[in-house]
Amino acid sequence: MSSKADLIVGLQWGDEGKGKIVDHMAQTHDYVCRFAGGHNAGHTIVIGDKKYALHLIPSGVLNPSAKNIVGNGVVLSPVDFIEEMEQFDNLEGRLFLSDKAHVLLPYHAQIDQARERMKGDKAIGTTGKGIGPAYGDKIARIGHRLGELLNPEKLTAKIVAYFAMNKPLFDAMGVEAPNEAELLVELQGYKDALGSFITDTTQMMWEIMDADKKILLEGAQGTMLDIDHGTYPYVTSSTTVSAGACSGLGINPKDIGKVTGIAKAYCTRVGNGPFPSEEFGDEGDTLRKNGHEFGTTTGRPRRCGWFDAVAMRHAVRVNGVDQVALMKLDVLDGFDEVKVCVAYEVDGKEINYVPYDLEDATPIYKSFPGWDKTEGVRAFDDLPDTAKSYIEALEAMIGTKIGIISTSPEREDTIIR
Ligand code: GDP
Ligand code: IMO
Ligand code: MG
Repeated sequence: MSSKADLIVGLQWGDEGKGKIVDHMAQTHDYVCRFAGGHNAGHTIVIGDKKYALHLIPSGVLNPSAKNIVGNGVVLSPVDFIEEMEQFDNLEGRLFLSDKAHVLLPYHAQIDQARERMKGDKAIGTTGKGIGPAYGDKIARIGHRLGELLNPEKLTAKIVAYFAMNKPLFDAMGVEAPNEAELLVELQGYKDALGSFITDTTQMMWEIMDADKKILLEGAQGTMLDIDHGTYPYVTSSTTVSAGACSGLGINPKDIGKVTGIAKAYCTRVGNGPFPSEEFGDEGDTLRKNGHEFGTTTGRPRRCGWFDAVAMRHAVRVNGVDQVALMKLDVLDGFDEVKVCVAYEVDGKEINYVPYDLEDATPIYKSFPGWDKTEGVRAFDDLPDTAKSYIEALEAMIGTKIGIISTSPEREDTIIR
């Protein structure tokens, strides 16, 4: 008997509230496994009066009984990971890092920032953390894996050779080669702090599935930021959709159980790139203020707008979503009317799918009556009638059940239907 893993994935442009739902579900799972992204992710979790910001450590860490796996699909910055670990005691035995995950080093961030400067007004608006260059090195087969940290002398020599090979390029970008002796000390420090956590997590995934453990797979970012299925080139550099869980952890499609897609009751985006239902006026400001829409990782204000049912249908199909968790319903409290993008207009024609270049799409809206208050509501029947109608209309438009509704950042303010 082998268990199937439940999967959590973001359906919009990230920051949908994945952390809250992973934390909620971790209470009934034995393992939480992160499969993609790096410390560009920022997952905020509120428990009582304590607030945690997680970037790379799976959001299961706040449940003492859940064990946490960081899979091979992740790019891991040792210095940032070590800092994040300092928030928690006793991680030994409940945190496991794939020896095949790629190492993100400070020079990747320098390259990322240099490229953004060179792009000028075409900049992606990355987090500047080095995500693109780290994945770029992986795909170009010049990256370094976590398993190599176990031999700092050898890895130092490899990184010195990497810099020699890239010298003309790095000189042009102003990226400095590290000092060899200092690099060795740095890598030795990473080995001391992380060595005991590094293991073959692919084998581990197979063993825990065969032992019928309850497993939750945690996505980062969102479908519209996926390297293939998002708004390229304004995307991140990893496979953020559910297929990434297989390659990013070494499991196969038949190992996947229930897929829960996370979506806000409205929509946000950080960084540049198309966002058809963006609101530039007072309504956008109100969403930003009520939703505290400022990035967990960079503090940047998030762009805000209405729920986009066309992009959502695309996301539901790409990910094979079984149920949607609709987050931050309370942020719409107090609006007289709430809008939903139901189709796009492209070149004078109405379409109901995501076109090649979303930049060309103008939203077509349908309005719904608003409501006073949903904040803190914990039962579907206790929601105002207009809020219930809004949720039921969304279900009909996206063709998927909304099985979870969140009405505040608090763990318990969650409606399960
Ligand atoms: P993630 O990256 O998908 O995990 O999402 P973030 O943590 O970056 O952003 C979601 C933010 O919304 C966090 O600050 C959460 O505490 C907060 N949040 C989550 N669910 C709700 C909700 O239902 N209502 C409100 N008001 N805030 C929420
Ligand atoms: P979570 O997991 C929102 C965005 C950046 C930028 C683009 C590329 O918290 O939902 P990158 O640094 O990855 O090369 O930046 O992707 N981005 C996110 N936006 N939430 C995230 O993660 C994001 N991770 C990356 O703002 O537009
Ligand atoms: Mg986030």
